[in-house]
Amino acid sequence: MATVTFDNATRQYPGNPVPSVDKLNIEIADGEFLVLVGPSGCGKSTSLRMLAGLEEVNGGRILIGDRDVTNLSPKDRDVAMVFQNYALYPHMTVADNMGFALKIAGVDKGEIRKRVEEAAKILDLTPYLDRKPKALSGGQRQRVAMGRAIVRSPQVFLMDEPLSNLDAKLRVQTRTQIASLQRRLGVTTVYVTHDQVEAMTMGDRVAVLKDGILQQCDSPRRMYDHPANVFVAGFIGSPAMNLMDVPVTEGGVDLHGHTVPIAREDLAGVGNHVTLGVRPEDLDLSSDASGIPVTVDVVEELGADAYIYGTADAKLLEATGENAGAVPFIARVDGRRPPEKGEKIYLKPKTGHVHVFNADSGLRVGD
Ligand SMILES: Nc1ncnc2c1ncn2[C@@H]1O[C@H](COP(=O)(O)OP(=O)(O)OP(=O)(O)O)[C@@H](O)[C@H]1O
Ligand SMILES: [Mg+2]
Repeated sequence: MATVTFDNATRQYPGNPVPSVDKLNIEIADGEFLVLVGPSGCGKSTSLRMLAGLEEVNGGRILIGDRDVTNLSPKDRDVAMVFQNYALYPHMTVADNMGFALKIAGVDKGEIRKRVEEAAKILDLTPYLDRKPKALSGGQRQRVAMGRAIVRSPQVFLMDEPLSNLDAKLRVQTRTQIASLQRRLGVTTVYVTHDQVEAMTMGDRVAVLKDGILQQCDSPRRMYDHPANVFVAGFIGSPAMNLMDVPVTEGGVDLHGHTVPIAREDLAGVGNHVTLGVRPEDLDLSSDASGIPVTVDVVEELGADAYIYGTADAKLLEATGENAGAVPFIARVDGRRPPEKGEKIYLKPKTGHVHVFNADSGLRVGD
């Protein structure tokens, strides 16, 4: 087992004007489960493939333990990768599929059998070892793909969207299995997904990428409570955080008669607007006509809670930028007494649960 270090790792594909991964710095602890997440094209697979040795590194270094592997070939890096399209060999049995890499590496038959049987036990595949892949369910095939990586007992597991071939329900089950399996084996793992829920539920830490640039790398809790910038704030969390550019007044932000205080020192240098962020669950219905004015468009009742999908009258808040007019707004309220469709309500952020960002740079202001 080993640590993994991306040290200013950069990849610019020939002919592309900008790097697809730009000066990536992440230090992954021994045994850690790190998830790389971000929208399509942000550089997740490229980062993983650089670590695997499948993509040239144009700047910076990659270390596994204290070995600089930047210029080593994939087979000398002691990593095992599970791909999105984990094509199994259709004509081989499950056991042969799992042991194939060992066979190529010249490991003797008895040893291969032993390792395959161990992995099969861990993955609940023992009854299927003599079957062909076509006689397995999607989830079982996915576990065979995991098995191929496990039998090699590598220092690092690399997984690129390994669950994307599974249906939604199986994906949820399998992600729990992978996370607990990883904890049991204690193998340092880098896992790529574009699904922020998957990232948040599986990772010890989550690294958010955008346009090849690392935005934040933190524990899921920290990421949710302290997004480093507007992009992370909007990307992590479902339904997404409400974000609006509002004018700064004396001591904070005025939301139609309701003041959200912002520390004076935090306001230094932010200009006359800030981007205010509030998560849907951090809003209370106001008993007077102060707060964020919202017209209710849809009420989604979920039993204990209800989600209000509405339109905020941003003009009334003197909002600027993209959110200057009527903006979509989401709030979670008590399911027993939800407002009705068409109703005009006022919402106040819960004290201490607002996120303030610099309206120009998008960076978080204050704690
Ligand atoms: N072989 C290549 N040659 C040129 N550009 C490439 C190559 N592979 C990837 N890119 C570009 O690099 C950027 C990052 O690609 P990458 O595959 O790492 O994204 P990703 O985050 O894995 O996206 P997805 O979620 O869609 O898999 C994209 O803009 C892509 O077009
Ligand atoms: Mg990808």
